[in-house]
Amino acid sequence: MSEETKKLPGPRGGGLLGSLKEIGDKAHVTWTKWSATYGPIYRVDLGPLGDSVVLSDYNLFKKAFEGDSDVFSGRYVLPIVKKSGSHGSMAWENGEIFEKRRNLMMKVFEKADIDKMTQNEVEAFCDVLKESQQKSSTTVYRMVYEANLNLTIAFCFQRGKRCPYDDETFRERIRLMNNVLEARKNLMAEKGNIFPFLWSTCLYGKFRRIHNEQRTYINQELSVRDVGDIGTVQDLMDGYVAKVDGIDFPAKECIVHIMNTMGATITLKNAMQWLILLITRHPEVQTKIQTEVTSVFGDEVPTMEGIDKVPYTSATIYETLRIACPAAQVVPHMTQADVKFEGYDIKNETVVFGNIWGLHHDTKYWEEPETFNPDRFLNSEGKLDLDKESYVPFGLGKRRCPGETIAKRVMFLYIASIYQRYGFEEVEGHPLPDVNDGVLFAGLHNPPPYKLKIVSRSDDKNNK
Ligand code: HEM
Repeated sequence: MSEETKKLPGPRGGGLLGSLKEIGDKAHVTWTKWSATYGPIYRVDLGPLGDSVVLSDYNLFKKAFEGDSDVFSGRYVLPIVKKSGSHGSMAWENGEIFEKRRNLMMKVFEKADIDKMTQNEVEAFCDVLKESQQKSSTTVYRMVYEANLNLTIAFCFQRGKRCPYDDETFRERIRLMNNVLEARKNLMAEKGNIFPFLWSTCLYGKFRRIHNEQRTYINQELSVRDVGDIGTVQDLMDGYVAKVDGIDFPAKECIVHIMNTMGATITLKNAMQWLILLITRHPEVQTKIQTEVTSVFGDEVPTMEGIDKVPYTSATIYETLRIACPAAQVVPHMTQADVKFEGYDIKNETVVFGNIWGLHHDTKYWEEPETFNPDRFLNSEGKLDLDKESYVPFGLGKRRCPGETIAKRVMFLYIASIYQRYGFEEVEGHPLPDVNDGVLFAGLHNPPPYKLKIVSRSDDKNNK
């Protein structure tokens, strides 16, 4: 650690593990607590991973991540990520390769009909709700996870086609994804980051096997994909094979990009699970959404064209992204040069964390930040008002989430379609968790599992 870096305030650290243990399994809460003591920018000793810097303030976020220079837009590649072969995917790349992969992904998202894929998936989701409505409780939580994975697979390598939920291949994919997530539970504190040599030992045998299995089944799809047949690009794999817009990568390289995208869309699953949870916790919000979507769409399939007419529904989505923060922190960045920032000297290749949770709960910007209140995203005329400071659910700058547009469309189509027909209630004996019960899992903010009772709106109407 250099003399200059020492000047940054921060918890003491030291020893083999530095402050890794103190960070615990709710890093976003620890970052926020420490920012109250050490200020909006501070240093944290990550033991073998070196010194890092935490930013927990909106203006510093803008200055670092959105500023003119690229110094803060590098990505820190965790040792475990390198070892598992994820290096080379877009999220873990830097420089020109990162930019080309990002462009490729954005081109694919422009060309593929993701709204149609979402509508197909949400239709199947609502069919399961229908089948389950007599049950006293359901794991809607689990259904959201499966629907999200199905949709991701559709736009990554299934040319938009969905799998029936009980299909054997799909069940196998779910099993593999569960295993991958389980293996990557606590990415930062992963022992393989601290002692990378462990990767080659039997301790990591299962981890290696799971990643290889996932790679193999994506490769099976790639091996039967015929370049000649591609008229239009329908998924990420097509993008690579067809070299969309002349962006040239060997087709095989899409495998790691696809695996990484499947991991990244877990944030969308979290957002959906938080949305349904928070709406159920606030029955008055649920009623308003139901009334609004019905008044605009009636019994018609909700489409993006109607979004401006349902501002309250959108406001609920934005408020959920604020208070529950499905990505409570940015994926660790890394400086790409020595830099003087806010009077502090920060070395090249320093890990930088951005505490999104801290920004979204900052009382300087948000009145009663702990209160779930969709109305804060509406103006006095009842129109959606997104002109907010200290609000960065998708990050900022060059590393801003490339899935933002998709995520917003998917959340909207889901919420409008579900609440057009159904509502949910708390199940007796199963109290619903709240945002403070969330845990970081694979670096993302997950709600704990919960059960719900499905309430069909046709029953509602018949009972009135
Ligand atoms: C509500 C849902 C989502 C939220 C809140 C979210 C949020 C974020 C955030 C905060 C980051 C980190 C930005 C940074 O490091 O500075 C990120 C990165 C990323 N997200 Fe999302 N995301 C969501 C959905 C998605 C979806 C649906 C996809 C893919 C289709 C996706 C793909 C990615 C990728 C590939 C990255 C890495 C970008 C990079 O390294 O430059 N995300 N997301």
